[in-house]
Amino acid sequence: MNVTLKNDRFLRALRRQAVDKTPVWMMRQAGRYLPEYRATREKAGDFITLCQTPELACEVTLQPLERYPLDAAILFSDILTIPDAMGLQLELIESVGPVFHKPINSYNDIKQLPMPDPEQELAYVMDAVRLIRKELDGSVPLIGFAGSPWTLATYMVEGRSSRDFGKIKKWLYSAPEEIHHLLSHVANSVASYLNAQIHAGAQAIMIFDTWGGTLTGPAYKAFSLAYMQQIVEQLDRGYLGDHIPVILFSKGAGLWIVDIAATGCDAVGLDWTQDIGLIREAIGHQVALQGNMDPAILKAPSERIREEVGNILASFGKGSGHVFNLGHGITPDIDPEHAGAFINAVHELSEQYHTD
Ligand code: CP3
Repeated sequence: MNVTLKNDRFLRALRRQAVDKTPVWMMRQAGRYLPEYRATREKAGDFITLCQTPELACEVTLQPLERYPLDAAILFSDILTIPDAMGLQLELIESVGPVFHKPINSYNDIKQLPMPDPEQELAYVMDAVRLIRKELDGSVPLIGFAGSPWTLATYMVEGRSSRDFGKIKKWLYSAPEEIHHLLSHVANSVASYLNAQIHAGAQAIMIFDTWGGTLTGPAYKAFSLAYMQQIVEQLDRGYLGDHIPVILFSKGAGLWIVDIAATGCDAVGLDWTQDIGLIREAIGHQVALQGNMDPAILKAPSERIREEVGNILASFGKGSGHVFNLGHGITPDIDPEHAGAFINAVHELSEQYHTD
């Protein structure tokens, strides 16, 4: 059954139905650029406790929505909750980033990986989804998410953020079947995790493939895209009679956009290196597009931000099928007023593209 939303622009644009304005949200919209986020994180003590405490995760999810007229909320969590639930022991170390204390070193480690039950080990995520839905009270839709199997595997094998992905690439090129085994296990686990989010109340799903673009074309298709497609096929998109849209975002995958659109997803996320107008011409009849302003433009004065928003809207052109976003996450150094100028510019400048 369809739940009535006060603002359904985001879901309508994903379905390429008419909208009054282009909807907008920002990747990492709940994050360190907001002083209220830093205060809640301080209260939690550390990032993982923040993710694991549904009341606090709900609080930070809602913070950007209290400040700005955003068209969607995104669950506050992290893509690394799944490997943590598999026992790899996640810690977020200041100035290093996420670290796994028990990374994957051997085929034996892969074969022994457990399959977390989303309503057990990851119940804190589902509790957060249920609480956020209750608090949102139908104001805007809630996006659930997970990392792509490939992106999760890079952290699981490298043990932390990597510059060159030397360990996983050596493994992939030497014993590809072992990496396929890992990816297949992670893909099944991501699919069951995302289905649990849908059942808990997520109204759209996004898969973050931050590191897909570091692969060669053939390797991208075999080791990243194939597993995202498998997840798209496994999702319970008809839950409660709604069509739950799925957005796939592979950073740096501009050359393979046509292949991404062919997976059966509803929308493709674009990073800022891509030309949204050209991509719309190529695949806009098939899927919606999400993106794609360079997050660094938020460092510039408001007039420059507004100009860039105008350029991207003009490049996409008239009609629905565009969800405005940054081409990657907002960074901690951004002035919250600049983020506000960005969001207002999207709403104000886009109206002209949605009149008959
Ligand atoms: O978009 C949102 O507002 C929802 C929350 C969200 C976070 N991480 C919160 C977070 C989402 C969707 C993610 C996804 C995520 N996490 C990705 C994929 C998207 C991307 O940005 O490429 C990746 C690669 C991760 C892994 C991860 N988590 C890294 C590399 C880091 C450290 C870098 C950083 O920005 O500090 C994190 C920590 C993290 N995840 C923070 C937040 C708000 C910062 C934590 C803090 O210091 O408070």
